[in-house]
Amino acid sequence: MKGIVLAGGSGSRLHPATLAVNKQLLPVYDKPMIYYPVSVLMQAGIDEILLISAPDYLANYVALFGDGASLGLKLSYAVQPRPEGLAQAFVIGRDFVGDDSVALVLGDNIFFGAGLEGMLARARARQSGATIFAYAVEDPERYGVVTLDGQGGALRIDEKPKAPQSPWAVTGLYFYDNRVLDIAAGIRPSPRGELEITDVNAAYLRAGELHVERMSRGYTWLDMGTHDSLLEAGEFVRTIQKRQGQLVAGLEEIAFRQGFIPLARLREQGAALARTDYGRKLLAIAADHA
Ligand code: TTP
Repeated sequence: MKGIVLAGGSGSRLHPATLAVNKQLLPVYDKPMIYYPVSVLMQAGIDEILLISAPDYLANYVALFGDGASLGLKLSYAVQPRPEGLAQAFVIGRDFVGDDSVALVLGDNIFFGAGLEGMLARARARQSGATIFAYAVEDPERYGVVTLDGQGGALRIDEKPKAPQSPWAVTGLYFYDNRVLDIAAGIRPSPRGELEITDVNAAYLRAGELHVERMSRGYTWLDMGTHDSLLEAGEFVRTIQKRQGQLVAGLEEIAFRQGFIPLARLREQGAALARTDYGRKLLAIAADHA
């Protein structure tokens, strides 16, 4: 399975903070925002990742991650010339995906919870269809919304409905079989001019192949699209890291646990960041496994 991180967008709700910087490069407590979605793909065991961003900023991501080898990843990069919708990721990423299945994660989403790896493994193990992750929120009208039947199956899916019939927002993480390439290539822009991921998911729903994983209250899902949500996300990460002494989105730690990098590399990476809590935590994990 391949992975795509979509990290373009205009970030207009974060102006002026994002006038000269891409949103996903902003710090969320102690690391760039992009670390959080990348960590989700890595926790799903995916090591071949395409990072898509806007033309002016792609070089920043190359400076940050290079070819991904330090994390045991095979990273490649592509430009989205204009923010023309989430489903465009599969038009841009068509050659990258090739004949494989693919997971897409949005560059401004955080997922956190003890059962996350199991949930990701279940989605990854499905041979056919699509899996979306639903999270109950107070303000579903801001998101794609999925209405569920008594068994947790999807009845309908609507993009930003004015009067939502369900609290279940569709989060920014999606697993698809290879058909997504043709489905995305076949959809037309919506009235707001975007290739909508909701239209892709609706196609799977019509085919009876849309699986919904409900993320219970034991999980945290945050998007970081506004000044308040960005600050809240930073506070959340700080609280977890200080209180539980564990890293949220410690990419080198995940790479080590997934077997993408050896212990010596984890230690090296920790040593390189030893002036920070982040680096010291990596060193402590390395010491635990020595
Ligand atoms: P949004 O938050 O919907 O849009 P945005 O990031 O452009 O911000 P704003 O609404 O404040 O102008 O995007 C969600 C995520 O998807 C975010 O990580 C950016 C990314 N994205 C793209 O990379 N390309 C796109 O075409 C769109 C619509 C979003």
